[in-house]
Amino acid sequence: MRKWYRERYLDLLGSIYIYNEHRGYTAIDRVLAAIRARWLDDHVLIAEVEKHRADERKHYLMFRRWFERRGTMPLAVDRTCGHIDRFVGIMFGSTIDELDPQTVIGRDDLFERMCRVISLTEQRGHRQVQILLRHGIVQSDAQMMKIFRIIEKDEPSHWAPYEKWLLAHGRRQSRWWERAIDQAIHSELLFVKLPILFAASRKKRLARWPDEADELPRAINDIEAVAA
Ligand SMILES: [Fe+2]
Ligand SMILES: [Fe+2]
Repeated sequence: MRKWYRERYLDLLGSIYIYNEHRGYTAIDRVLAAIRARWLDDHVLIAEVEKHRADERKHYLMFRRWFERRGTMPLAVDRTCGHIDRFVGIMFGSTIDELDPQTVIGRDDLFERMCRVISLTEQRGHRQVQILLRHGIVQSDAQMMKIFRIIEKDEPSHWAPYEKWLLAHGRRQSRWWERAIDQAIHSELLFVKLPILFAASRKKRLARWPDEADELPRAINDIEAVAA
């Protein structure tokens, strides 16, 4: 029973993370294209967001290797398990895919909202990783610990460019109600979605790796990730 519980926990944790990392870098790709178009000369902002993108791709690949070593595919979790999907859905009233980055970046009021959503999501991710690094089951898996230590180190540089943009443009920081939404999404994932997934023993596995459907060819994806 104990062994089953441990395996199930790691399986689910890895599946939720690989979904979120993939979601992360593919969503940043779209934001990045729009930033490059609007703030062509802001090399610092572009470089920082490129670094963010490359890190998320690197995180994705680390989880992919973790699954490859186990010899299983990730469980098929959908966007209801994606923190950023839920957050964007509430704050913008549409899915990430339906949101047009050109429109968001063309309007400062929407872009500042986006900056706060990304920043809060990254800060939440950092706190969550610190909790996981103290978790007994995670500690029992050396490769998983290595992955989370790297993520913990990377995360602070992820919210920095968006916070800097808000500051440089005289925009406000997040308010209590935005932090409350972030907290509610997290609690829902932890206390509602996760127990349901845990109990669903016949949960299907992915047939293909999520990045097989990426627009960027794998070689370019990997060069960007290695450069991180
Ligand atoms: Fe990440
Ligand atoms: Fe991140």
